[in-house]
Amino acid sequence: MEQNVQEPKQRVLSLIQPTSVPTLGNYLGALKNWKKMARDYDCIFGVADLHALTIRVEPSMLRKQTQEMLALLLALDLDAEKNIVFVQSHVHTHSELSWLLNCYTQFGEASRMTQFKDKSRKHADNVTVGLFDYPVLMAADILIYQSNYVPVGVDQKQHLELARNIAERFNGIYGQTFTVPEPFIGTKGAKVMSLQDPTAKMSKSDPNPKASVSVLDSPDVIVKKFKSAVTDSEACVRYAEGKDGINNLMTIYSCCTGLDYAQIESDFAGKGYGDFKMAVAEAVIEELRPLQENYNHVIADKACISDCAKKGAEKALYVTQKTLRKVQKKVGLWQG
Ligand code: TRP
Repeated sequence: MEQNVQEPKQRVLSLIQPTSVPTLGNYLGALKNWKKMARDYDCIFGVADLHALTIRVEPSMLRKQTQEMLALLLALDLDAEKNIVFVQSHVHTHSELSWLLNCYTQFGEASRMTQFKDKSRKHADNVTVGLFDYPVLMAADILIYQSNYVPVGVDQKQHLELARNIAERFNGIYGQTFTVPEPFIGTKGAKVMSLQDPTAKMSKSDPNPKASVSVLDSPDVIVKKFKSAVTDSEACVRYAEGKDGINNLMTIYSCCTGLDYAQIESDFAGKGYGDFKMAVAEAVIEELRPLQENYNHVIADKACISDCAKKGAEKALYVTQKTLRKVQKKVGLWQG
């Protein structure tokens, strides 16, 4: 999806919840590509702190995690001057549009969201209207920027589809108002699997801490986790069906070094899994080093984080107010 430089840039938007540190899987599958995307697209990245409230969170934790997630986004070096990096709750227009979109969302279609069904089973003692309404707020996040593309994982695909339906419905009633967003499929990120069960995706919510690597794990921890990664008994580094553990390590190694599978196989011919695991761990440490260095730098400067949040919110407000006003007018709210 290379773009002609003459044309105005297309807009890509994504938000990320602050409640857990992204994994190596999130990094290689998504975040790493954001930096590349930020060169070719007009990018808007946010911390979805309002979405985090849909399940019970400790207030002091949420405050801390929101700053940390913002610091992590800033550490990606996305060029906060050209792009917009913001905290969702600092931009009140999102919530306002969300209310309006509620009135153009069918109860039935919202009830079909599989993530709502899963989460309400998981948090059966606290199934709130907010949890139910979460995809509508997400639709507001997307539509309020007139976003062209949204990079989404499979778990968010249905929500993006809902946002598209709401946009089309609204446009159908009131005339062209919202850009109908598409999933972003420009750069295909890698799918990284759990180090303990390589048939399951690496997930930050995995109860086994050895199953996933956080982007902020220290080199020691990274080495330990890769050392205990599940493999097979063949003791031969090759990419093949049935060798899920080794395939996963080869994918990770390939993403971090740029080497293809054939090259990796020949480099490790005759060597054992122990050597390979160490090499993968070292490649991951190197891959994450610049991000971690930037992060440590940013997180140490709380005033700078606040300043960036403020600037991001101002820019976001400017862009989003245009859409909100348009919508308010179209639905018949008297603007005085
Ligand atoms: N719901 C997304 C998640 O949990 C986060 C999110 C909120 C989002 N608003 C968004 C993602 C808008 C993309 C676009 O991962």
